[in-house]
Amino acid sequence: MNKHLLVAPQPTTKRVADLDGPDFYPTPKWATHALIENEQFSGDIWECACGDGAMSEVLARTGNKIISSDLFDRDYGEHGVDFITEDRSVDNIITNPPFHSAEPFVESALRNSKKKFALLLRLAFLEGGGRQRNIFSKNAPSRVWVFSERITFYPKNAVRKGSGTTAYAWFVWDKAHCGPTELNWFPPGYKKQFA
Ligand SMILES: C[S@@+](CC[C@H](N)C(=O)[O-])C[C@H]1O[C@@H](n2cnc3c(N)ncnc32)[C@H](O)[C@@H]1O
Repeated sequence: MNKHLLVAPQPTTKRVADLDGPDFYPTPKWATHALIENEQFSGDIWECACGDGAMSEVLARTGNKIISSDLFDRDYGEHGVDFITEDRSVDNIITNPPFHSAEPFVESALRNSKKKFALLLRLAFLEGGGRQRNIFSKNAPSRVWVFSERITFYPKNAVRKGSGTTAYAWFVWDKAHCGPTELNWFPPGYKKQFA
């Protein structure tokens, strides 16, 4: 067995670089199910950092048209599309962005989404002076969905052991929303139901 693939889940707020290009951590499908069971999306959905399609495949269950792209070729969707600089107007954008680029992904999604965008981010993304000044003071999310079950991210093909200790949430920006940010909690059970 390749010892480099024996990678424990990432327990801190800082994920290490992955083994197959920058920050490739497929999202466990139950975490995407939790979003689509609780948020409605009308129109096309762009999964703009699609990796191997782990999230796109679940999003297809909405019945909406799914557009999938990634900067890197992971044998799924379009490749060579840098979401940070891309100019493409789409109804909805949903992804789990690379850890190191969450802020530019918010900025690009604000520019490129016509209706809604949802990003799976560390709950700690809520903190920080820079984010308060640059993002939240001008464009606070409409809703934050906090996971009550821990998501464990593994690099692709890594041996799975242990469970994660980092809190994640879906951050949803809805252009039709007025008023303050709503804070919601997913009830436990998605992990088992959509294992
Ligand atoms: C954490 S993985 C998530 C993959 C997929 N969204 C999922 O949830 O399973 C982040 C993905 O972002 C891609 N990526 C990194 N920088 C990017 C960029 N500037 N534009 C588009 N995709 C990028 C990586 O190649 C990787 O596939």
